[in-house]
Amino acid sequence: MIRVDRLSASVRKTPILRDLSFSVKPGEFVALVGPNGAGKTTLLKHLNGLMKPTAGTVSVCGLDTKRARTSELARRVGFLFQNPDQQILCATVREEIAFGLRHCGIPRAEWDGRIAEAAARADLSAKLDADPLMLTRSRRQRVALASVLATDPEVLVLDEPTSAQDEAETTRVMELARGLARRGKAVVLVSHDMDLVARYADRALVLVSGKLEADCAPAELFSDAGLLARAMLSAPPIVRLARALGLDLPASGGERALLVRSLADQVAALARREAV
Ligand SMILES: Nc1ncnc2c1ncn2[C@@H]1O[C@H](COP(=O)(O)OP(=O)(O)OP(=O)(O)O)[C@@H](O)[C@H]1O
Ligand SMILES: [Mg+2]
Repeated sequence: MIRVDRLSASVRKTPILRDLSFSVKPGEFVALVGPNGAGKTTLLKHLNGLMKPTAGTVSVCGLDTKRARTSELARRVGFLFQNPDQQILCATVREEIAFGLRHCGIPRAEWDGRIAEAAARADLSAKLDADPLMLTRSRRQRVALASVLATDPEVLVLDEPTSAQDEAETTRVMELARGLARRGKAVVLVSHDMDLVARYADRALVLVSGKLEADCAPAELFSDAGLLARAMLSAPPIVRLARALGLDLPASGGERALLVRSLADQVAALARREAV
């Protein structure tokens, strides 16, 4: 669904991305992680054609981003930024969602149905006539998400969408993204929150100074101290606790529930031994 082949990108002659190759399949939930300034946002901008490769190719749903029209790409790639105010432009929630539909060339006859459905999924049905700027920040983030959901993109790109959100709101956004992946969409999430990566991602792409340092299961990343240090990341608390207890880490990120259960069993066994 996404194929990046030997992508390099420079901004004013400064190389930002260096010779990246990877692909993302339908239904995959991929985390893109790495230090500040590594080039994560720059890479995301290549997925929706906002930036074009200096060298190499990026293709999304079979479209070469160098040649495809912006509206063709916009229909396939939904983009959610960290700051919803960068993408909210209209006077009401309804108009905001409609704006995205118009931008993607969705026929007008479909608008009402799509607006109602997206608003319901983002829990905004009662706010369709509200001015987005009068809503709380977390609701504004959901307005931005609803405009993306309404266009029914094949690829959902999330650039630190939860960094200013509380836990309930974060879970809501992540569960919506997971739902899309389960329905066969590709999700690419940039996050500095390794617990989120552990909970939701099938795969981690580790970007350091514009280079792809690793393309692996999250559990593999969390068990590689050298890689974590190069990427200036630390494993989520649950993984560090497991390691401190001398537990073997499961082989893949999707096994986190197993890790929690075996950790609980181990702690319970220790407690029983203490009690005897
Ligand atoms: N428009 C621009 N002009 C000049 N330099 C830029 C521009 N956009 C990005 N850069 C540089 O490109 C590099 C990568 O930036 P990018 O925003 O992609 O990193 P990031 O991994 O998203 O970082 P963060 O975690 O802080 O969001 C940085 O060194 C940044 O200074
Ligand atoms: Mg960024």
